[in-house]
Amino acid sequence: HFPVIAIDGPSASGKGTVAQLVASKLGFNYLDSGALYRIVAFAAQQDNIPWSDALAVTACTKTLKIEFINEQVLLNNQDVSNEIRTEEIGKGASQVAVHAPLRAALVDMQHSFCKAPGLIADGRDMGTVIFPEAELKVFLTASTETRALRRYKQLQGKNQPANYEHILQDLTERDARDKGRASAPLLMADDAILLETDNVGISDAVDYILQKYQI
Ligand code: CDP
Repeated sequence: HFPVIAIDGPSASGKGTVAQLVASKLGFNYLDSGALYRIVAFAAQQDNIPWSDALAVTACTKTLKIEFINEQVLLNNQDVSNEIRTEEIGKGASQVAVHAPLRAALVDMQHSFCKAPGLIADGRDMGTVIFPEAELKVFLTASTETRALRRYKQLQGKNQPANYEHILQDLTERDARDKGRASAPLLMADDAILLETDNVGISDAVDYILQKYQI
Protein backbone atom coordinates (compact mmCIF):
# COMPACT_ATOMS: atom_id res chain seq x y z
CA HIS A 1 0.00 0.00 0.00
CA PHE A 2 1.37 3.41 -1.04
CA PRO A 3 0.19 6.81 0.20
CA VAL A 4 -2.51 8.60 -1.78
CA ILE A 5 -3.53 12.24 -1.72
CA ALA A 6 -6.98 12.67 -3.28
CA ILE A 7 -7.71 16.09 -4.76
CA ASP A 8 -11.31 16.50 -5.90
CA GLY A 9 -13.41 19.44 -6.99
CA PRO A 10 -15.41 21.02 -9.80
CA SER A 11 -14.22 22.13 -13.25
CA ALA A 12 -11.58 24.85 -13.43
CA SER A 13 -11.04 24.90 -9.67
CA GLY A 14 -7.29 24.76 -10.25
CA LYS A 15 -7.09 21.12 -9.22
CA GLY A 16 -5.00 19.97 -12.16
CA THR A 17 -2.28 22.58 -11.73
CA VAL A 18 -2.19 22.23 -7.96
CA ALA A 19 -2.22 18.42 -8.06
CA GLN A 20 0.63 18.26 -10.59
CA LEU A 21 2.77 20.62 -8.53
CA VAL A 22 2.14 18.64 -5.34
CA ALA A 23 3.06 15.45 -7.23
CA SER A 24 6.31 16.92 -8.51
CA LYS A 25 7.29 18.33 -5.09
CA LEU A 26 6.75 14.95 -3.44
CA GLY A 27 8.07 12.94 -6.40
CA PHE A 28 4.75 11.06 -6.50
CA ASN A 29 2.85 9.65 -9.47
CA TYR A 30 -0.02 11.71 -10.83
CA LEU A 31 -3.43 10.48 -11.99
CA ASP A 32 -5.48 12.88 -14.11
CA SER A 33 -8.74 10.91 -13.96
CA GLY A 34 -10.58 13.59 -15.96
CA ALA A 35 -8.30 12.76 -18.91
CA LEU A 36 -9.71 9.22 -18.91
CA TYR A 37 -13.29 10.50 -19.31
CA ARG A 38 -12.06 12.90 -21.98
CA ILE A 39 -10.35 10.06 -23.89
CA VAL A 40 -13.56 8.04 -23.75
CA ALA A 41 -15.58 11.00 -25.09
CA PHE A 42 -13.03 11.53 -27.86
CA ALA A 43 -12.88 7.84 -28.84
CA ALA A 44 -16.69 7.58 -28.87
CA GLN A 45 -16.91 10.62 -31.11
CA GLN A 46 -14.37 9.13 -33.52
CA ASP A 47 -16.47 5.95 -33.71
CA ASN A 48 -19.72 7.90 -34.15
CA ILE A 49 -21.07 6.60 -30.84
CA PRO A 50 -23.42 9.04 -29.12
CA TRP A 51 -22.18 10.09 -25.65
CA SER A 52 -25.62 9.20 -24.28
CA ASP A 53 -25.32 5.51 -25.26
CA ALA A 54 -24.05 3.92 -22.03
CA LEU A 55 -23.62 0.40 -23.36
CA ALA A 56 -21.89 1.32 -26.61
CA VAL A 57 -19.62 3.85 -24.88
CA THR A 58 -18.64 1.25 -22.27
CA ALA A 59 -18.03 -1.45 -24.89
CA CYS A 60 -15.88 0.96 -26.89
CA THR A 61 -13.90 1.90 -23.76
CA LYS A 62 -12.97 -1.70 -23.09
CA THR A 63 -11.17 -1.91 -26.46
CA LEU A 64 -9.05 1.21 -25.93
CA LYS A 65 -5.34 1.19 -25.21
CA ILE A 66 -4.73 4.19 -22.98
CA GLU A 67 -1.26 5.23 -21.85
CA PHE A 68 0.19 8.23 -20.04
CA ILE A 69 3.81 8.68 -21.04
CA ASN A 70 5.66 11.70 -19.69
CA GLU A 71 3.30 14.62 -20.40
CA GLN A 72 1.57 12.83 -23.27
CA VAL A 73 -1.76 11.03 -23.38
CA LEU A 74 -1.71 8.17 -25.89
CA LEU A 75 -4.80 6.53 -27.32
CA ASN A 76 -4.03 3.38 -29.33
CA ASN A 77 -0.42 4.63 -29.68
CA GLN A 78 -1.49 8.09 -30.95
CA ASP A 79 -0.77 11.28 -29.07
CA VAL A 80 -4.19 12.84 -28.34
CA SER A 81 -3.00 15.26 -25.61
CA ASN A 82 -4.30 18.35 -27.43
CA GLU A 83 -7.39 16.80 -29.00
CA ILE A 84 -8.87 15.82 -25.63
CA ARG A 85 -8.43 19.30 -24.09
CA THR A 86 -11.10 21.13 -26.09
CA GLU A 87 -14.24 22.50 -24.44
CA GLU A 88 -16.36 20.23 -26.62
CA ILE A 89 -14.60 17.09 -25.44
CA GLY A 90 -14.84 18.40 -21.84
CA LYS A 91 -18.57 18.57 -22.31
CA GLY A 92 -18.59 15.07 -23.79
CA ALA A 93 -16.52 13.80 -20.86
CA SER A 94 -19.12 15.02 -18.40
CA GLN A 95 -21.83 13.31 -20.47
CA VAL A 96 -20.13 9.91 -20.67
CA ALA A 97 -19.17 10.20 -16.98
CA VAL A 98 -22.81 9.77 -15.89
CA HIS A 99 -22.81 6.12 -17.01
CA ALA A 100 -22.23 3.73 -14.08
CA PRO A 101 -20.93 0.81 -16.23
CA LEU A 102 -18.42 3.09 -17.88
CA ARG A 103 -17.20 4.36 -14.49
CA ALA A 104 -16.86 0.73 -13.35
CA ALA A 105 -14.80 -0.09 -16.46
CA LEU A 106 -12.26 2.60 -15.50
CA VAL A 107 -11.74 1.60 -11.85
CA ASP A 108 -8.89 -0.92 -12.27
CA MET A 109 -6.92 1.40 -14.50
CA GLN A 110 -7.18 4.18 -11.91
CA HIS A 111 -6.06 1.83 -9.11
CA SER A 112 -3.03 0.82 -11.19
CA PHE A 113 -1.64 4.36 -10.81
CA CYS A 114 -1.11 3.76 -7.11
CA LYS A 115 2.55 2.77 -7.26
CA ALA A 116 5.72 3.58 -5.30
CA PRO A 117 6.39 6.04 -3.81
CA GLY A 118 2.79 7.34 -3.80
CA LEU A 119 0.03 9.00 -5.80
CA ILE A 120 -1.70 12.31 -6.23
CA ALA A 121 -5.16 11.50 -7.64
CA ASP A 122 -7.05 14.34 -9.30
CA GLY A 123 -10.76 14.15 -10.11
CA ARG A 124 -14.33 14.19 -8.86
CA ASP A 125 -14.60 10.91 -6.94
CA MET A 126 -11.01 10.16 -5.90
CA GLY A 127 -11.67 10.51 -2.17
CA THR A 128 -15.22 9.14 -2.22
CA VAL A 129 -15.10 6.14 -4.59
CA ILE A 130 -11.71 5.31 -6.10
CA PHE A 131 -9.35 5.84 -3.14
CA PRO A 132 -11.59 6.00 -0.04
CA GLU A 133 -8.57 5.05 2.11
CA ALA A 134 -6.48 8.03 0.93
CA GLU A 135 -4.14 9.48 3.58
CA LEU A 136 -5.24 13.00 2.74
CA LYS A 137 -8.33 14.24 0.91
CA VAL A 138 -8.67 17.80 -0.31
CA PHE A 139 -11.75 19.31 -1.90
CA LEU A 140 -10.61 22.26 -3.98
CA THR A 141 -13.20 24.74 -5.11
CA ALA A 142 -13.95 28.37 -5.98
CA SER A 143 -17.03 30.33 -7.01
CA THR A 144 -18.43 29.70 -10.49
CA GLU A 145 -17.38 33.22 -11.55
CA THR A 146 -13.78 32.74 -10.41
CA ARG A 147 -13.60 29.41 -12.18
CA ALA A 148 -15.12 30.80 -15.39
CA LEU A 149 -12.58 33.62 -15.40
CA ARG A 150 -9.72 31.15 -14.91
CA ARG A 151 -10.96 28.97 -17.76
CA TYR A 152 -11.37 32.07 -19.95
CA LYS A 153 -7.78 33.17 -19.34
CA GLN A 154 -6.53 29.64 -19.86
CA LEU A 155 -8.21 29.43 -23.30
CA GLN A 156 -7.00 32.89 -24.25
CA GLY A 157 -3.46 31.88 -23.30
CA LYS A 158 -3.74 28.94 -25.68
CA ASN A 159 -5.16 31.20 -28.43
CA GLN A 160 -8.40 29.23 -28.39
CA PRO A 161 -11.78 30.96 -28.83
CA ALA A 162 -13.10 32.11 -25.46
CA ASN A 163 -16.37 33.76 -24.48
CA TYR A 164 -16.83 34.42 -20.75
CA GLU A 165 -20.64 34.17 -20.78
CA HIS A 166 -20.58 30.86 -22.62
CA ILE A 167 -17.94 29.47 -20.31
CA LEU A 168 -19.95 30.53 -17.25
CA GLN A 169 -23.06 28.84 -18.60
CA ASP A 170 -21.14 25.73 -19.57
CA LEU A 171 -19.51 25.45 -16.14
CA THR A 172 -22.88 25.86 -14.44
CA GLU A 173 -24.35 23.05 -16.58
CA ARG A 174 -21.35 20.83 -16.04
CA ASP A 175 -21.44 21.36 -12.25
CA ALA A 176 -25.13 20.48 -12.21
CA ARG A 177 -24.51 17.31 -14.21
CA ASP A 178 -21.50 16.28 -12.06
CA LYS A 179 -23.38 16.87 -8.79
CA GLY A 180 -26.75 15.54 -9.93
CA ARG A 181 -25.72 12.20 -11.41
CA ALA A 182 -26.64 8.99 -9.57
CA SER A 183 -23.25 7.34 -10.02
CA ALA A 184 -20.33 8.85 -8.07
CA PRO A 185 -21.72 12.40 -7.91
CA LEU A 186 -19.31 15.22 -7.24
CA LEU A 187 -19.39 15.66 -3.48
CA MET A 188 -16.90 16.31 -0.75
CA ALA A 189 -15.86 13.23 1.24
CA ASP A 190 -16.77 13.45 4.95
CA ASP A 191 -13.09 13.37 5.88
CA ALA A 192 -11.88 15.82 3.22
CA ILE A 193 -10.42 19.26 3.89
CA LEU A 194 -12.21 22.08 2.07
CA LEU A 195 -9.90 24.51 0.28
CA GLU A 196 -11.63 27.50 -1.29
CA THR A 197 -9.29 29.15 -3.74
CA ASP A 198 -11.07 32.38 -4.73
CA ASN A 199 -8.40 34.31 -2.86
CA VAL A 200 -5.69 31.69 -2.66
CA GLY A 201 -2.98 31.49 -5.32
CA ILE A 202 -1.62 28.27 -6.79
CA SER A 203 1.59 28.18 -4.77
CA ASP A 204 -0.24 28.87 -1.49
CA ALA A 205 -2.68 26.06 -2.25
CA VAL A 206 0.24 23.73 -2.97
CA ASP A 207 2.03 24.71 0.27
CA TYR A 208 -1.18 24.24 2.26
CA ILE A 209 -1.64 20.69 0.94
CA LEU A 210 2.02 19.77 1.53
CA GLN A 211 1.77 21.09 5.07
CA LYS A 212 -1.41 19.09 5.76
CA TYR A 213 0.23 15.97 4.32
CA GLN A 214 3.29 16.30 6.51
CA ILE A 215 1.32 16.64 9.76
O1 CDP B 1 -10.89 20.33 -16.91
P1 CDP B 1 -12.16 20.06 -16.21
O2 CDP B 1 -12.05 20.19 -14.73
O3 CDP B 1 -13.34 20.75 -16.78
O4 CDP B 1 -12.51 18.58 -16.49
P2 CDP B 1 -11.75 17.23 -16.20
O5 CDP B 1 -11.20 17.18 -14.82
O6 CDP B 1 -10.81 16.96 -17.31
O7 CDP B 1 -12.99 16.21 -16.28
C1 CDP B 1 -13.88 16.22 -17.36
C2 CDP B 1 -15.21 15.61 -16.92
O8 CDP B 1 -14.99 14.25 -16.56
C3 CDP B 1 -15.84 16.25 -15.70
O9 CDP B 1 -16.76 17.26 -16.02
C4 CDP B 1 -16.54 15.11 -15.00
O10 CDP B 1 -17.88 15.00 -15.44
C5 CDP B 1 -15.81 13.88 -15.47
N1 CDP B 1 -14.99 13.28 -14.40
C6 CDP B 1 -15.59 12.38 -13.55
O11 CDP B 1 -16.77 12.13 -13.65
N2 CDP B 1 -14.86 11.75 -12.59
C7 CDP B 1 -13.56 12.02 -12.44
N3 CDP B 1 -12.87 11.38 -11.49
C8 CDP B 1 -12.93 12.97 -13.27
C9 CDP B 1 -13.67 13.60 -14.25
